[in-house]
Amino acid sequence: MMIEIHREAGVETLRLNRPAKKNALTGEMYTALAEALEQGNSDPEVRVHLICGVPGAFTSGNDIADFLAFAGDGNMADAPVVRFLRALAACDTPIVAAVDGLAIGVGTTMLFHCDMVFASPRALFKTPFIDLGLVPEAGASLLAPARMGHARAFELLCLGESFDPVMAKTAGFVNHIAPEEDLEARALACARTIAAKPAEAMRMSRSLLIGDRAVLRERMEEEIRLFAECLRSDTARSAFAAFLDKAGKTG
Ligand code: COA
Repeated sequence: MMIEIHREAGVETLRLNRPAKKNALTGEMYTALAEALEQGNSDPEVRVHLICGVPGAFTSGNDIADFLAFAGDGNMADAPVVRFLRALAACDTPIVAAVDGLAIGVGTTMLFHCDMVFASPRALFKTPFIDLGLVPEAGASLLAPARMGHARAFELLCLGESFDPVMAKTAGFVNHIAPEEDLEARALACARTIAAKPAEAMRMSRSLLIGDRAVLRERMEEEIRLFAECLRSDTARSAFAAFLDKAGKTG
């Protein structure tokens, strides 16, 4: 299973598990994640989600071969990635993340929807959307500047600069830095603490902190529309082809 789901005492762990591809996310993986988040909203047994990866890779982002397929058929409206992003934004359950190593593209932008993010010292946050001829997604164009101010958001989302965990913590999207060997234990302990608190009050409080989600939903749909448009561009297609060529996947 490329998404391993494990539930224990109110904590539902969603492990991204495709190590050979540095946890690049496929349609099948997005669907599994979306289903888990959607079900969690209506299941009182799920009090918190914990998202984690494999050693050295939280995720290298969307699978580039999938991007190329979308560039061909041009229809993203019902794509699994879009379902996942909508489920993330609509999630009522608190989300904890443990990031060890690579957090590229959606690997970084999904963190803006998480409540507690733990990162190892070797975590690397990077969103190379523009270099691929794309625009940010997951509401990042709204959430990142709100979280870290325009200057840092520009550096991350438009320049595509890498952020190390200290920068990410200063920017306000990492709560704690923990050594690799303690990372998951720390994140799990936090998830258990959340799960042990009164669930309804927790959900209501989280929802109050997030505020009105209508503006976020609207922005996400706008990003998805532009993203789909960009995917079809020659710039994006040649960037994907270059990556896959380098990886020896085509030609
Ligand atoms: N989509 C598809 N395959 C990917 C991938 C992705 N996003 N990221 C990594 N892979 C694959 C590589 O093609 C390679 O496959 P192979 O072993 O069959 O050749 C394997 O995962 C290992 O990656 P590799 O590039 O050899 O590892 P690395 O440590 O040298 O570099 C990255 C890791 C993540 C820096 C590099 O793979 C990369 O830049 N990936 C693309 C990231 C990206 O642009 N994501 C989209 C963001 S919007």
